[in-house]
Amino acid sequence: MDRFVRNFIIISIVYLGASSILGVCMLADPSLVYLKFVHSHLNLLGWVSMMIYGVGYHVLPRFSGRPLKYPRMGEAQFWTANIGLVGMLLFYALGVFNAVPAYKTLSIAFGALEVLSIGLFFYNMLATLLPKTTA
Ligand code: HEM
Ligand code: HEM
Repeated sequence: MDRFVRNFIIISIVYLGASSILGVCMLADPSLVYLKFVHSHLNLLGWVSMMIYGVGYHVLPRFSGRPLKYPRMGEAQFWTANIGLVGMLLFYALGVFNAVPAYKTLSIAFGALEVLSIGLFFYNMLATLLPKTTA
């Protein structure tokens, strides 16, 4: 198993733990529901997407009988996905408690990095899975 594949799977479980703790805190103190976006995206981009990236990088190339085309792009995607997610949610949360315009800008910028990471996964998977036409 590639190192970045293992890292995607480990970090996805860390996000599940963090988002579940936040979810219970939201149940205990309903004013924290302002952080629903943080909870839902820790789950959906952190737990669910990163688990899918990890399993997908490992399993989908094997299904197609071809190795992953760009392993170093997979490594880069690990970092962009995680830095993008943590930055987006951190500055969103800071902006909830203190509405500084710079926080909103930073949250958007890190969100754009997250979108870039999704693009890297998309490109690498298509380059790996789509067979080359020889004719
Ligand atoms: C111990 C585990 C969890 C707890 C205690 C928890 C708790 C909560 C709470 C309190 C809310 C806010 C509900 C409201 O708007 O009043 C919420 C929203 C949400 N949670 Fe969780 N949650 C947990 C796990 C998960 C998991 C595993 C996922 C996804 C894989 C998830 C996805 C969501 C989503 C998408 C929302 C937003 C739903 C909406 O906008 O109506 N949660 N959760
Ligand atoms: C870069 C990627 C993403 C960005 C920037 C983003 C951004 C947003 C924003 C701004 C909202 C509205 C939050 C609010 O009402 O205050 C939202 C809601 C939501 N998004 Fe995303 N999203 C992303 C990816 C995803 C993915 C991959 C999923 C599912 C797998 C997802 C599922 C949801 C759901 C269920 C809600 C409604 C629950 C909530 O209000 O938190 N999002 N998203």
